[in-house]
Amino acid sequence: PAAPMIDGFGRRIEYLRISVTDRCDLRCRYCMAEKMSFLPRNEVLTLEEIAIIADRFIARGVRKIRLSGGEPLVRRDFGDLVRRIGRHLDDGTLWELTLTTNGTRLARHADDLAAAGVGRINVSIDSLDPETYAFVTRGGRLDTVLEGIRAASAAGIRVKINMVALKGLNDRDYLPMLRWCAGEGHDLTLIETMPLGEVEEDRTDRYLPLSEAVRQIEAAHPLTPSRYSSGGPARYYEAAGLPGIRLGLITPLSDNFCAGCNRMRLTCEGKIFMCLGHEDHVDLKTAYRTGGIAAVDAALDRALIAKPLAHDFAIGPDRVTGVTRRHMSVTGG
Ligand code: GTP
Ligand code: 5AD
Ligand code: SF4
Repeated sequence: PAAPMIDGFGRRIEYLRISVTDRCDLRCRYCMAEKMSFLPRNEVLTLEEIAIIADRFIARGVRKIRLSGGEPLVRRDFGDLVRRIGRHLDDGTLWELTLTTNGTRLARHADDLAAAGVGRINVSIDSLDPETYAFVTRGGRLDTVLEGIRAASAAGIRVKINMVALKGLNDRDYLPMLRWCAGEGHDLTLIETMPLGEVEEDRTDRYLPLSEAVRQIEAAHPLTPSRYSSGGPARYYEAAGLPGIRLGLITPLSDNFCAGCNRMRLTCEGKIFMCLGHEDHVDLKTAYRTGGIAAVDAALDRALIAKPLAHDFAIGPDRVTGVTRRHMSVTGG
């Protein structure tokens, strides 16, 4: 049997995030520049290569795979990849296959995703006000996304909403969002904005510690820590008066969670990033194309040794530091 993956700090790698494309049909201000240049297609892994590499991660102990992007549902034949990886859910080697999506194309994919074994997805909505939503996404239509979420729920997929806290953009929207989520039966995760890639927005101006969102929420719904974990970086809470759903907080800047890190990232161009906040990576595409699975295993072993203890994102006295050159859409969040 293949060796399990344990890094230099004794952390077991059980969660693989795969960015299947750097492309997206939205241009969220904190994620992308208005004019993005995307990778040429021949530099991107084929779906077949992604599936083979995912198989190898599973053989080496990965139990949870999250597909992301960019927007995963803009990749052609994405459904084939989900079905292919989803087979491991049936034989028990994979415990969860999920995706993070902006929801614009969810309505037409929901049934196929459910049939492939996707039981839970995360959908990004930074505001329930259609104008704010359109502003943040540079043109996205909220009603299309809400329709996609309804289709996913109807197909039996549990939906969690991701909301990035953005000073001056959605800083009055946390309580309405949490109440809407409670009414619809969705968990909500609030996320501190991280400095990935150059965008027009000023990272420091937009950064809002989640303590501010928590303050607003707690005035109406006191929070108590929940024992639930999704296996990701969020810490979960239950909100008084809003039963049945959980509030997750992802606080990379104000309260670092790296000690419990269990994940690696495969980018759409076939690089393994050991940490979202570091440039250090291992080229799995070249390894696979030149040396097959044996070379993939050797590259994974190098990645394990090189995995850093923590990211370098930080909020200094007057600015956010630790900016990476890569955009979020390449690494997949
Ligand atoms: P579940 O816990 O499975 O629901 O998913 P998740 O929260 O891990 O995944 P999702 O794709 O919804 O990501 C939510 C936010 O968490 C995004 O902003 C990610 O960039 C961020 N995130 C996920 N993993 C890490 C990590 O290892 N480090 C940092 N700094 N951020 C992460
Ligand atoms: N900081 C924090 N979260 C981000 N996301 C995209 N860019 C950033 C950023 N700079 C979020 C998206 C999506 C998830 C994958 O990451 O909104 O929900
Ligand atoms: Fe697209 Fe997601 Fe980035 Fe928004 S945050 S531009 S939806 S990849």
